[in-house]
Amino acid sequence: MDKLLITGNGPLQGDVRISGAKNAVLPILAATLLANNASTISNVPHLNDVTTTMALLGRLGCQLTMTDNMQVEVDPSSINDYTAAYELVRTMRASILVLGPLVARYGQAQVSLPGGCAIGARPVNLHIDGLRALGADIRIEDGYIRARAGRLKGARLALDTVTVTGTENLLMAATLARGETVIENAAREPEVVDLARYLTRMGAQISGAGTGTIHVQGVDELQGAPHRVVPDRIETGTFLVAAAATRGKVRVLDTVPENLTVVLDKLRESGASLTQGEDWVELDMNGERPRAVNITTAPFPDFPTDMQAQFCVLNAVAEGKSRIVETVFENRFMHISELMRMGAAMDIDGNTVTVNGVSRLKGAPVMATDLRASASLIVAALVADGETTVRRVYHIDRGYERIEEKFRQLGAQIEREPDN
Ligand code: EPU
Repeated sequence: MDKLLITGNGPLQGDVRISGAKNAVLPILAATLLANNASTISNVPHLNDVTTTMALLGRLGCQLTMTDNMQVEVDPSSINDYTAAYELVRTMRASILVLGPLVARYGQAQVSLPGGCAIGARPVNLHIDGLRALGADIRIEDGYIRARAGRLKGARLALDTVTVTGTENLLMAATLARGETVIENAAREPEVVDLARYLTRMGAQISGAGTGTIHVQGVDELQGAPHRVVPDRIETGTFLVAAAATRGKVRVLDTVPENLTVVLDKLRESGASLTQGEDWVELDMNGERPRAVNITTAPFPDFPTDMQAQFCVLNAVAEGKSRIVETVFENRFMHISELMRMGAAMDIDGNTVTVNGVSRLKGAPVMATDLRASASLIVAALVADGETTVRRVYHIDRGYERIEEKFRQLGAQIEREPDN
Protein backbone atom coordinates (compact mmCIF):
# COMPACT_ATOMS: atom_id res chain seq x y z
CA MET A 1 0.00 0.00 0.00
CA ASP A 2 1.28 3.50 -0.80
CA LYS A 3 1.15 6.81 1.00
CA LEU A 4 1.47 10.37 -0.30
CA LEU A 5 3.80 12.91 1.30
CA ILE A 6 2.66 16.45 0.55
CA THR A 7 4.17 19.77 1.57
CA GLY A 8 2.05 22.87 1.05
CA ASN A 9 4.10 25.31 -1.02
CA GLY A 10 1.92 28.06 -2.35
CA PRO A 11 -0.31 28.69 -5.34
CA LEU A 12 -0.76 26.02 -8.05
CA GLN A 13 0.15 27.33 -11.52
CA GLY A 14 0.03 25.84 -15.00
CA ASP A 15 -1.93 23.53 -17.29
CA VAL A 16 -3.40 20.10 -16.58
CA ARG A 17 -5.10 17.61 -18.91
CA ILE A 18 -8.24 15.81 -17.81
CA SER A 19 -8.72 12.05 -18.30
CA GLY A 20 -11.82 10.14 -19.40
CA ALA A 21 -14.56 10.02 -16.77
CA LYS A 22 -14.49 7.09 -14.34
CA ASN A 23 -18.26 7.12 -13.93
CA ALA A 24 -18.79 7.08 -17.70
CA VAL A 25 -16.21 4.44 -18.64
CA LEU A 26 -17.52 1.90 -16.11
CA PRO A 27 -21.09 1.68 -17.52
CA ILE A 28 -19.74 1.90 -21.08
CA LEU A 29 -17.42 -1.07 -20.54
CA ALA A 30 -20.40 -2.97 -19.07
CA ALA A 31 -22.51 -2.00 -22.10
CA THR A 32 -20.01 -3.66 -24.46
CA LEU A 33 -21.62 -6.93 -23.24
CA LEU A 34 -24.83 -6.07 -25.11
CA ALA A 35 -23.24 -6.25 -28.57
CA ASN A 36 -22.77 -9.20 -30.90
CA ASN A 37 -19.19 -8.20 -31.64
CA ALA A 38 -16.27 -6.02 -30.56
CA SER A 39 -16.33 -2.35 -29.49
CA THR A 40 -13.35 -0.05 -29.24
CA ILE A 41 -13.49 2.37 -26.34
CA SER A 42 -10.99 5.25 -26.26
CA ASN A 43 -9.97 7.93 -23.73
CA VAL A 44 -10.08 5.15 -21.12
CA PRO A 45 -8.41 6.37 -17.91
CA HIS A 46 -5.81 4.17 -16.16
CA LEU A 47 -7.66 3.60 -12.91
CA ASN A 48 -7.98 0.69 -10.52
CA ASP A 49 -11.75 0.62 -11.12
CA VAL A 50 -11.11 0.20 -14.86
CA THR A 51 -8.67 -2.66 -14.16
CA THR A 52 -11.30 -4.29 -11.94
CA THR A 53 -13.97 -3.93 -14.64
CA MET A 54 -11.64 -5.44 -17.23
CA ALA A 55 -10.90 -8.34 -14.88
CA LEU A 56 -14.64 -8.85 -14.52
CA LEU A 57 -15.25 -8.78 -18.29
CA GLY A 58 -12.33 -11.18 -18.74
CA ARG A 59 -13.84 -13.63 -16.23
CA LEU A 60 -17.13 -13.54 -18.12
CA GLY A 61 -15.15 -14.71 -21.16
CA CYS A 62 -14.72 -11.46 -23.13
CA GLN A 63 -11.57 -11.00 -25.21
CA LEU A 64 -9.84 -7.77 -24.20
CA THR A 65 -7.12 -5.96 -26.13
CA MET A 66 -5.45 -2.85 -24.77
CA THR A 67 -3.29 -0.43 -26.67
CA ASP A 68 -1.00 2.03 -24.94
CA ASN A 69 -2.97 5.05 -26.13
CA MET A 70 -5.76 4.50 -23.63
CA GLN A 71 -7.87 2.42 -25.96
CA VAL A 72 -9.56 -0.86 -25.05
CA GLU A 73 -11.19 -3.33 -27.44
CA VAL A 74 -13.79 -5.60 -25.86
CA ASP A 75 -15.09 -8.58 -27.82
CA PRO A 76 -18.01 -10.16 -25.95
CA SER A 77 -18.70 -12.90 -28.51
CA SER A 78 -16.90 -15.57 -26.44
CA ILE A 79 -18.84 -15.04 -23.18
CA ASN A 80 -19.29 -18.29 -21.26
CA ASP A 81 -19.88 -17.17 -17.68
CA TYR A 82 -22.51 -14.88 -16.17
CA THR A 83 -21.26 -14.28 -12.63
CA ALA A 84 -19.85 -11.19 -10.94
CA ALA A 85 -18.28 -12.75 -7.86
CA TYR A 86 -18.12 -11.24 -4.38
CA GLU A 87 -14.33 -10.61 -4.49
CA LEU A 88 -14.78 -8.24 -7.42
CA VAL A 89 -18.04 -6.58 -6.34
CA ARG A 90 -16.55 -6.04 -2.88
CA THR A 91 -13.71 -3.96 -4.35
CA MET A 92 -15.96 -2.12 -6.79
CA ARG A 93 -19.71 -1.60 -6.31
CA ALA A 94 -20.06 -0.51 -9.93
CA SER A 95 -19.72 -4.23 -10.86
CA ILE A 96 -23.54 -4.19 -10.47
CA LEU A 97 -23.55 -2.54 -13.92
CA VAL A 98 -23.11 -5.92 -15.65
CA LEU A 99 -26.48 -7.09 -14.27
CA GLY A 100 -28.72 -5.30 -16.79
CA PRO A 101 -26.62 -6.16 -19.88
CA LEU A 102 -26.19 -9.86 -18.93
CA VAL A 103 -29.91 -10.37 -18.26
CA ALA A 104 -30.97 -8.53 -21.41
CA ARG A 105 -28.47 -10.20 -23.75
CA TYR A 106 -27.95 -13.66 -22.21
CA GLY A 107 -31.08 -14.15 -20.06
CA GLN A 108 -29.06 -14.88 -16.92
CA ALA A 109 -26.80 -13.25 -14.37
CA GLN A 110 -25.46 -13.82 -10.86
CA VAL A 111 -24.14 -10.66 -9.28
CA SER A 112 -23.01 -10.45 -5.68
CA LEU A 113 -24.99 -7.91 -3.64
CA PRO A 114 -22.66 -4.98 -3.05
CA GLY A 115 -23.57 -4.27 0.61
CA GLY A 116 -22.97 -0.92 2.33
CA CYS A 117 -19.84 1.18 1.95
CA ALA A 118 -17.98 4.07 3.53
CA ILE A 119 -20.47 6.70 2.35
CA GLY A 120 -23.80 5.01 3.08
CA ALA A 121 -26.02 1.92 2.85
CA ARG A 122 -26.38 2.27 -0.93
CA PRO A 123 -29.11 -0.30 -1.66
CA VAL A 124 -29.74 -1.56 -5.22
CA ASN A 125 -33.48 -2.21 -4.84
CA LEU A 126 -34.36 0.10 -7.74
CA HIS A 127 -32.06 -1.83 -10.13
CA ILE A 128 -33.77 -5.08 -9.08
CA ASP A 129 -37.36 -3.76 -9.11
CA GLY A 130 -36.82 -2.20 -12.53
CA LEU A 131 -35.44 -5.41 -14.04
CA ARG A 132 -38.36 -7.35 -12.53
CA ALA A 133 -40.77 -4.88 -14.14
CA LEU A 134 -39.01 -5.63 -17.47
CA GLY A 135 -39.82 -9.31 -16.93
CA ALA A 136 -36.72 -10.75 -15.24
CA ASP A 137 -37.18 -13.35 -12.53
CA ILE A 138 -34.87 -12.29 -9.71
CA ARG A 139 -34.12 -14.04 -6.44
CA ILE A 140 -31.73 -12.96 -3.70
CA GLU A 141 -29.85 -16.04 -2.47
CA ASP A 142 -26.59 -16.51 -0.57
CA GLY A 143 -25.72 -12.82 -0.93
CA TYR A 144 -26.21 -12.98 -4.71
CA ILE A 145 -28.74 -11.43 -7.07
CA ARG A 146 -29.73 -14.38 -9.28
CA ALA A 147 -31.59 -13.27 -12.40
CA ARG A 148 -33.15 -15.22 -15.27
CA ALA A 149 -35.23 -14.00 -18.17
CA GLY A 150 -36.49 -14.74 -21.63
CA ARG A 151 -36.55 -11.70 -23.85
CA LEU A 152 -37.28 -8.67 -21.64
CA LYS A 153 -40.45 -6.68 -22.28
CA GLY A 154 -40.58 -2.88 -22.35
CA ALA A 155 -42.35 -1.23 -19.40
CA ARG A 156 -42.93 2.09 -17.70
CA LEU A 157 -40.40 2.42 -14.87
CA ALA A 158 -41.01 5.24 -12.39
CA LEU A 159 -37.97 5.42 -10.11
CA ASP A 160 -38.64 6.55 -6.51
CA THR A 161 -35.18 8.06 -6.11
CA VAL A 162 -32.84 9.44 -8.74
CA THR A 163 -30.16 6.78 -9.13
CA VAL A 164 -27.25 7.06 -11.56
CA THR A 165 -26.15 3.43 -11.92
CA GLY A 166 -29.79 2.32 -11.50
CA THR A 167 -30.81 4.43 -14.50
CA GLU A 168 -27.82 3.09 -16.44
CA ASN A 169 -28.59 -0.57 -15.65
CA LEU A 170 -32.23 -0.19 -16.72
CA LEU A 171 -31.35 1.85 -19.80
CA MET A 172 -28.91 -0.85 -20.95
CA ALA A 173 -31.43 -3.62 -20.28
CA ALA A 174 -34.22 -1.76 -22.11
CA THR A 175 -32.22 -1.44 -25.34
CA LEU A 176 -32.78 -5.16 -26.11
CA ALA A 177 -36.31 -5.49 -24.63
CA ARG A 178 -39.32 -6.01 -26.86
CA GLY A 179 -41.27 -2.75 -27.25
CA GLU A 180 -40.98 0.59 -25.49
CA THR A 181 -39.54 1.35 -22.06
CA VAL A 182 -40.02 4.70 -20.37
CA ILE A 183 -37.72 5.52 -17.44
CA GLU A 184 -39.25 8.28 -15.32
CA ASN A 185 -37.31 10.26 -12.71
CA ALA A 186 -34.17 9.14 -14.58
CA ALA A 187 -30.74 10.44 -13.59
CA ARG A 188 -29.64 13.29 -15.89
CA GLU A 189 -25.88 13.09 -15.22
CA PRO A 190 -23.55 13.65 -18.20
CA GLU A 191 -22.29 10.08 -17.68
CA VAL A 192 -25.80 8.75 -18.41
CA VAL A 193 -25.84 10.87 -21.56
CA ASP A 194 -22.43 9.51 -22.62
CA LEU A 195 -23.64 5.93 -22.11
CA ALA A 196 -26.77 6.68 -24.19
CA ARG A 197 -24.54 8.11 -26.94
CA TYR A 198 -22.52 4.90 -27.06
CA LEU A 199 -25.65 2.69 -27.00
CA THR A 200 -27.12 4.73 -29.84
CA ARG A 201 -23.95 4.15 -31.88
CA MET A 202 -24.46 0.43 -31.28
CA GLY A 203 -27.94 0.67 -32.80
CA ALA A 204 -30.11 1.39 -29.75
CA GLN A 205 -33.10 3.71 -30.08
CA ILE A 206 -33.05 6.14 -27.20
CA SER A 207 -34.49 9.61 -26.72
CA GLY A 208 -34.53 11.95 -23.73
CA ALA A 209 -31.17 10.97 -22.17
CA GLY A 210 -30.09 13.98 -20.08
CA THR A 211 -33.71 14.74 -19.14
CA GLY A 212 -35.82 13.19 -16.39
CA THR A 213 -37.69 10.92 -18.83
CA ILE A 214 -35.86 8.49 -21.12
CA HIS A 215 -37.68 6.61 -23.88
CA VAL A 216 -36.15 3.42 -25.28
CA GLN A 217 -37.54 1.52 -28.23
CA GLY A 218 -36.10 -1.99 -27.92
CA VAL A 219 -34.20 -3.50 -30.87
CA ASP A 220 -33.37 -7.14 -31.71
CA GLU A 221 -29.62 -6.78 -31.57
CA LEU A 222 -26.77 -4.33 -31.07
CA GLN A 223 -23.45 -4.15 -32.90
CA GLY A 224 -20.09 -3.18 -31.40
CA ALA A 225 -19.14 0.46 -32.03
CA PRO A 226 -16.29 2.87 -31.35
CA HIS A 227 -16.72 5.41 -28.57
CA ARG A 228 -14.59 8.09 -26.93
CA VAL A 229 -15.33 8.51 -23.21
CA VAL A 230 -16.43 11.99 -22.05
CA PRO A 231 -13.86 13.91 -19.91
CA ASP A 232 -14.15 13.62 -16.13
CA ARG A 233 -16.09 16.57 -14.70
CA ILE A 234 -15.21 15.63 -11.11
CA GLU A 235 -11.48 15.45 -11.85
CA THR A 236 -11.88 18.84 -13.55
CA GLY A 237 -13.64 20.28 -10.51
CA THR A 238 -11.05 18.81 -8.14
CA PHE A 239 -8.14 20.58 -9.92
CA LEU A 240 -10.09 23.85 -10.07
CA VAL A 241 -10.86 23.73 -6.34
CA ALA A 242 -7.19 22.98 -5.61
CA ALA A 243 -6.25 26.02 -7.69
CA ALA A 244 -8.78 28.20 -5.86
CA ALA A 245 -7.83 27.00 -2.36
CA THR A 246 -4.12 27.65 -3.03
CA ARG A 247 -4.94 31.09 -4.57
CA GLY A 248 -3.39 29.94 -7.85
CA LYS A 249 -3.98 30.14 -11.59
CA VAL A 250 -4.63 26.87 -13.43
CA ARG A 251 -5.88 26.02 -16.91
CA VAL A 252 -7.71 22.70 -17.24
CA LEU A 253 -7.57 21.19 -20.73
CA ASP A 254 -9.50 18.42 -22.55
CA THR A 255 -12.63 18.90 -20.48
CA VAL A 256 -16.27 19.91 -21.00
CA PRO A 257 -16.98 23.03 -18.89
CA GLU A 258 -20.72 22.86 -19.62
CA ASN A 259 -20.88 19.60 -17.63
CA LEU A 260 -19.95 21.41 -14.42
CA THR A 261 -21.80 24.71 -14.66
CA VAL A 262 -22.97 24.71 -11.03
CA VAL A 263 -19.46 23.98 -9.76
CA LEU A 264 -18.03 26.81 -11.89
CA ASP A 265 -20.75 29.16 -10.56
CA LYS A 266 -19.77 28.31 -6.98
CA LEU A 267 -16.08 28.92 -7.76
CA ARG A 268 -17.02 32.33 -9.23
CA GLU A 269 -19.04 33.07 -6.11
CA SER A 270 -15.93 32.25 -4.04
CA GLY A 271 -14.03 34.99 -5.88
CA ALA A 272 -12.38 33.14 -8.78
CA SER A 273 -12.07 34.70 -12.24
CA LEU A 274 -12.96 32.06 -14.81
CA THR A 275 -12.40 32.04 -18.55
CA GLN A 276 -13.50 29.13 -20.67
CA GLY A 277 -13.64 27.71 -24.17
CA GLU A 278 -15.43 24.67 -25.51
CA ASP A 279 -12.92 22.21 -24.02
CA TRP A 280 -10.94 24.19 -21.45
CA VAL A 281 -11.42 26.39 -18.43
CA GLU A 282 -8.96 28.66 -16.64
CA LEU A 283 -9.29 29.70 -13.02
CA ASP A 284 -7.40 32.66 -11.56
CA MET A 285 -7.71 33.65 -7.88
CA ASN A 286 -5.52 36.72 -8.48
CA GLY A 287 -3.66 35.73 -5.30
CA GLU A 288 -6.75 36.35 -3.15
CA ARG A 289 -8.18 34.22 -0.35
CA PRO A 290 -11.43 32.50 -1.41
CA ARG A 291 -14.76 33.57 0.11
CA ALA A 292 -16.97 30.98 1.85
CA VAL A 293 -19.82 29.51 -0.25
CA ASN A 294 -22.90 27.54 0.86
CA ILE A 295 -23.45 24.20 -0.86
CA THR A 296 -26.33 21.71 -1.03
CA THR A 297 -25.66 18.50 -2.95
CA ALA A 298 -28.37 16.98 -5.17
CA PRO A 299 -28.58 14.99 -8.41
CA PHE A 300 -27.49 16.65 -11.67
CA PRO A 301 -27.90 19.43 -12.75
CA ASP A 302 -27.52 20.53 -9.10
CA PHE A 303 -24.31 20.50 -7.10
CA PRO A 304 -22.61 17.04 -7.29
CA THR A 305 -22.07 15.04 -4.10
CA ASP A 306 -18.74 13.96 -5.65
CA MET A 307 -17.48 17.58 -5.24
CA GLN A 308 -18.74 18.07 -1.68
CA ALA A 309 -15.54 17.01 0.13
CA GLN A 310 -13.35 19.26 -2.04
CA PHE A 311 -15.59 22.29 -1.31
CA CYS A 312 -15.36 21.49 2.42
CA VAL A 313 -11.62 22.18 2.07
CA LEU A 314 -12.18 25.36 0.05
CA ASN A 315 -14.53 26.61 2.77
CA ALA A 316 -12.13 25.49 5.51
CA VAL A 317 -9.58 28.10 4.34
CA ALA A 318 -12.06 30.67 3.01
CA GLU A 319 -13.02 34.04 4.44
CA GLY A 320 -16.29 33.65 6.37
CA LYS A 321 -18.75 31.05 7.53
CA SER A 322 -20.55 28.48 5.36
CA ARG A 323 -23.00 25.58 5.48
CA ILE A 324 -22.62 22.38 3.47
CA VAL A 325 -25.66 20.11 3.21
CA GLU A 326 -25.31 16.54 1.85
CA THR A 327 -28.64 15.21 0.55
CA VAL A 328 -27.52 12.30 -1.67
CA PHE A 329 -25.66 9.98 0.73
CA GLU A 330 -26.31 9.61 4.45
CA ASN A 331 -22.72 9.24 5.64
CA ARG A 332 -20.46 11.24 3.39
CA PHE A 333 -18.61 13.34 5.97
CA MET A 334 -15.74 11.00 6.84
CA HIS A 335 -13.24 13.64 5.70
CA ILE A 336 -14.47 16.19 8.26
CA SER A 337 -12.72 14.66 11.27
CA GLU A 338 -9.47 14.38 9.28
CA LEU A 339 -9.75 18.04 8.18
CA MET A 340 -10.37 19.06 11.80
CA ARG A 341 -7.14 17.30 12.75
CA MET A 342 -5.47 19.63 10.25
CA GLY A 343 -6.93 22.68 12.01
CA ALA A 344 -10.23 23.19 10.15
CA ALA A 345 -13.05 24.70 12.26
CA MET A 346 -16.05 22.52 11.42
CA ASP A 347 -19.11 21.17 13.13
CA ILE A 348 -21.34 18.33 11.89
CA ASP A 349 -25.05 18.21 12.68
CA GLY A 350 -26.87 15.43 10.82
CA ASN A 351 -26.44 16.04 7.11
CA THR A 352 -25.07 19.57 7.58
CA VAL A 353 -21.56 20.83 8.24
CA THR A 354 -20.96 24.36 9.45
CA VAL A 355 -17.53 25.72 8.57
CA ASN A 356 -15.73 28.75 10.01
CA GLY A 357 -12.90 29.63 7.63
CA VAL A 358 -9.37 29.69 9.09
CA SER A 359 -6.43 31.33 7.32
CA ARG A 360 -4.14 28.23 7.26
CA LEU A 361 -4.36 24.51 7.90
CA LYS A 362 -1.54 22.52 9.51
CA GLY A 363 0.02 19.38 8.03
CA ALA A 364 -0.81 16.12 9.85
CA PRO A 365 -0.90 12.38 9.20
CA VAL A 366 -4.38 11.64 7.76
CA MET A 367 -6.26 8.66 6.39
CA ALA A 368 -8.15 8.42 3.11
CA THR A 369 -11.59 6.84 3.63
CA ASP A 370 -13.21 6.99 0.19
CA LEU A 371 -12.34 8.34 -3.20
CA ARG A 372 -13.53 11.95 -3.00
CA ALA A 373 -12.63 12.27 0.69
CA SER A 374 -9.08 11.31 -0.31
CA ALA A 375 -8.97 13.95 -3.01
CA SER A 376 -10.08 16.54 -0.47
CA LEU A 377 -7.23 15.56 1.86
CA ILE A 378 -4.71 16.16 -0.92
CA VAL A 379 -6.19 19.62 -1.54
CA ALA A 380 -6.07 20.31 2.22
CA ALA A 381 -2.42 19.23 2.34
CA LEU A 382 -1.60 21.69 -0.46
CA VAL A 383 -2.88 24.60 1.63
CA ALA A 384 -1.40 23.37 4.92
CA ASP A 385 1.81 24.50 6.62
CA GLY A 386 4.36 21.68 6.84
CA GLU A 387 4.05 18.08 5.72
CA THR A 388 0.92 15.93 5.44
CA THR A 389 1.00 12.17 5.00
CA VAL A 390 -2.10 10.73 3.31
CA ARG A 391 -2.44 7.00 3.95
CA ARG A 392 -4.63 4.38 2.19
CA VAL A 393 -4.22 6.08 -1.17
CA TYR A 394 -5.64 3.03 -2.94
CA HIS A 395 -8.95 4.89 -2.66
CA ILE A 396 -7.50 7.69 -4.80
CA ASP A 397 -6.06 5.29 -7.38
CA ARG A 398 -9.57 3.92 -7.94
CA GLY A 399 -10.69 7.16 -9.52
CA TYR A 400 -7.89 9.66 -10.26
CA GLU A 401 -5.33 8.94 -12.96
CA ARG A 402 -1.70 9.78 -12.03
CA ILE A 403 -2.93 12.32 -9.50
CA GLU A 404 0.45 13.09 -7.94
CA GLU A 405 2.09 13.59 -11.37
CA LYS A 406 -0.66 15.98 -12.42
CA PHE A 407 -0.38 17.98 -9.19
CA ARG A 408 3.43 18.03 -9.49
CA GLN A 409 3.04 19.50 -12.97
CA LEU A 410 1.17 22.40 -11.32
CA GLY A 411 4.07 22.98 -8.89
CA ALA A 412 2.88 20.92 -5.94
CA GLN A 413 5.39 19.13 -3.75
CA ILE A 414 3.92 15.64 -3.60
CA GLU A 415 5.65 12.25 -3.47
CA ARG A 416 4.36 8.68 -3.42
CA GLU A 417 6.10 6.16 -1.19
CA PRO A 418 5.39 2.61 -0.12
CA ASP A 419 3.72 2.59 3.29
CA ASN A 420 5.27 -0.18 5.37
N1 EPU B 1 -30.49 4.44 -3.97
C1 EPU B 1 -31.50 3.66 -3.48
N2 EPU B 1 -31.83 2.52 -4.15
C2 EPU B 1 -31.22 2.14 -5.29
C3 EPU B 1 -30.18 2.95 -5.81
C4 EPU B 1 -29.84 4.10 -5.12
O1 EPU B 1 -32.08 3.98 -2.44
O2 EPU B 1 -31.57 1.09 -5.84
C5 EPU B 1 -30.09 5.69 -3.25
C6 EPU B 1 -28.64 5.61 -2.73
O3 EPU B 1 -28.56 4.93 -1.51
C7 EPU B 1 -28.27 7.08 -2.64
C8 EPU B 1 -29.05 7.69 -3.81
O4 EPU B 1 -30.05 6.75 -4.17
O5 EPU B 1 -28.72 7.62 -1.43
C9 EPU B 1 -28.22 8.00 -5.03
O6 EPU B 1 -27.39 6.92 -5.34
P1 EPU B 1 -27.01 6.49 -6.84
O7 EPU B 1 -27.62 5.19 -7.13
O8 EPU B 1 -27.27 7.63 -7.76
O9 EPU B 1 -25.45 6.29 -6.71
P2 EPU B 1 -24.59 5.26 -7.55
O10 EPU B 1 -25.21 5.09 -8.87
O11 EPU B 1 -24.32 4.07 -6.72
C10 EPU B 1 -23.05 7.00 -8.74
C11 EPU B 1 -21.58 7.25 -8.82
C12 EPU B 1 -21.10 7.82 -7.48
C13 EPU B 1 -21.86 9.12 -7.22
C14 EPU B 1 -23.37 8.84 -7.22
C15 EPU B 1 -24.22 10.09 -7.07
C16 EPU B 1 -20.85 5.60 -10.41
C17 EPU B 1 -20.09 4.35 -10.69
N3 EPU B 1 -20.90 6.01 -9.14
O12 EPU B 1 -23.23 6.05 -7.69
O13 EPU B 1 -19.72 8.11 -7.64
O14 EPU B 1 -21.50 9.65 -5.97
O15 EPU B 1 -23.75 8.21 -8.47
O16 EPU B 1 -23.92 11.02 -8.05
O17 EPU B 1 -21.38 6.22 -11.30
C18 EPU B 1 -17.52 8.51 -6.90
O18 EPU B 1 -17.19 8.61 -8.10
O19 EPU B 1 -16.74 8.81 -5.96
C19 EPU B 1 -18.85 8.01 -6.57
C20 EPU B 1 -19.18 7.54 -5.37
